[in-house]
Amino acid sequence: MPDDIDYTALWRAVLRLPHHREEHSIHGPDHWLRVERNACILAHRTGACIEVVRLFALFHDSRRINDWTDSGHGERGAQLAAELRGSLYDLSDENFEVLQYACTWHTEGHHHEDPTIGTCWDADRLDIGRAGISPDAAFMSTEFGREIATHGTVMPWLELARPHVADSEHHHLTWQSFRNPGE
Ligand SMILES: [Fe+2]
Ligand SMILES: [Fe+2]
Repeated sequence: MPDDIDYTALWRAVLRLPHHREEHSIHGPDHWLRVERNACILAHRTGACIEVVRLFALFHDSRRINDWTDSGHGERGAQLAAELRGSLYDLSDENFEVLQYACTWHTEGHHHEDPTIGTCWDADRLDIGRAGISPDAAFMSTEFGREIATHGTVMPWLELARPHVADSEHHHLTWQSFRNPGE
C-alpha cells in the first residue's frame, strides 16, 4: 500500500485543533517544520522512511499543553496520529507502529538503532539551537546526526531536504494561513 499523504491538508487539520501554542512557541509549528526539514536531510543517508519521519515531525509535539517537560506529551501526540489515521492519512501497519513508538518515546532522551526512529529523534534534537544550545553528538542515534551535531548546524546540508519539504506548500504558508485557511 503506497503511503500517499496530503501533508498540507494534514498540517491544516492538526493546526486547527485547540492548543496552547503561540506562533513562535519553542515547541510549536516553527519547530515542527524544522524537525521535518532536518528529518528529510538525515533520511538521505540514514535510509529512514520518509513518511514516518514527516508524520513524526507534525505529531510529536502537537499535543503539548505547555513548553516545559510536559509529561506524556509524546504519548498524546501518538494518540492524535492514531485518531487521524484512516481519515486524513493512511500508513501501513508496520510504519504506523514505528511512528507510534517514535512519538511516544521521543521525550525520554533515549537512543535507538532503528534508522527511522533514530532519524526522528535526531531531527528533533538537532533543533535544540532554538533554545540557544548547540546540538550535542552524544544525544544522536545516527552517524549523520552526529556529524551534523558536531558541525553545530544543519545549514550546509539544507539542499538535501529537497524535494520533500522545500517544495511543500505548507513550508510556504505563514502561521496565519495555517490558523485561518483561505484568508
Ligand atoms: Fe517533545
Ligand atoms: Fe520536538
